[in-house]
Amino acid sequence: MLAKTPPMGWNSWNTFAENISEELLMETADAMVETGLRDAGYEYVVIDDCWSLRERGKDGRIVADPAKFPHGMKYLADYIHGKGLKFGMYSCAGTRTCAGYPSSFDHEFEDAKMFAQFGVDFLKYDFCNKPRRADGPNLYHRMGLALKSSGREILFSACNWGSDKVEEWIRSTGAQMYRSTGDITDNFRSMSDIAKSQMNKLAFSAQGCYNDIDMLVVGMHNRGNVATGGMTDDEYLFHFALWCAMQSPLMIGCDIRDMSDATLRTLTHPELIRINQDAEARPLFPLGGGKIGDDFIGFKHLEGNEFLLCFFNFGERERTQEADFFDIGLPVASGKGLALRDIITGGDIGVKSDYMRVPVPGHGFRMYRGKLVDL
Ligand code: GAL
Repeated sequence: MLAKTPPMGWNSWNTFAENISEELLMETADAMVETGLRDAGYEYVVIDDCWSLRERGKDGRIVADPAKFPHGMKYLADYIHGKGLKFGMYSCAGTRTCAGYPSSFDHEFEDAKMFAQFGVDFLKYDFCNKPRRADGPNLYHRMGLALKSSGREILFSACNWGSDKVEEWIRSTGAQMYRSTGDITDNFRSMSDIAKSQMNKLAFSAQGCYNDIDMLVVGMHNRGNVATGGMTDDEYLFHFALWCAMQSPLMIGCDIRDMSDATLRTLTHPELIRINQDAEARPLFPLGGGKIGDDFIGFKHLEGNEFLLCFFNFGERERTQEADFFDIGLPVASGKGLALRDIITGGDIGVKSDYMRVPVPGHGFRMYRGKLVDL
């Protein structure tokens, strides 16, 4: 089964947009291995939009741009596979991709077959330029079946930005992940608006098909295609922790050939990745009646009878947040508490019951992993 846990990898769009090439992809695959990202769980190296010529060839096939990919896609796939990684590509459900390149509308089955021949393991499938008479969900059903009939196991990454109430039907198309929002850009506001918009929709995200709240901007520092101001290293850690708690796929968007130590530490944080990849794949439950403001407290069941309690402060000033254990199903009458460990500092904080008050810095968070214990 694909996507037992949220897929992890790298995607070219956030930093490089149309400036992609065989060389970039090969160097990125090298960097995945050399930096330890592969060993931390990152697996897919994905080319986004702008990889082909502007028109299909005479035989009707999409043609890889020979200036960008002189040896063709099979060569690149073999190289990436040789590094113990998987290869991802991109197409779109409409008549043209978002950047105006040929796209798979009415070519779904032949394109899927071609991707399989290339050795593709992952297809991101966008939603621009859909003919008005075509039904959005139907176009994802088409590509879902086309991939299944392609002769190769290919992870289906849908990208319709949350339209047509995507969470209600996308799992039935065979997709393993689905973009639920518009595009992220590299600043705290964009990142947090995207996360907040999905916090009450996480129950749809589970084993086999995950809510994808977009590629990470961690470590971009205002460089590249989606630069809009950048964030501090602490804010990037907040962003990463949030994506992990919300169980989003983790697709890196920065230039991993040129990362700071802080960026690498964030992207490979073992305890955060462990939460993202938790085998139970249960949704994060928002406390506070589902109202998502600057204070956000979430609770989540983890494998091995463990639990996650997390506090996120989207505001700029420090705030004291209070989790009432009644709201997580642990009233005083239960006689139970949670023995908690801070997953960022590693420190044991003892047994908490009834409630927990925590000062949380502006744009900061606290995350605790724990077990149920008798008081
Ligand atoms: C958007 C998509 C982005 C990127 C872009 C390429 O629709 O959300 O992630 O793929 O198209 O043109």
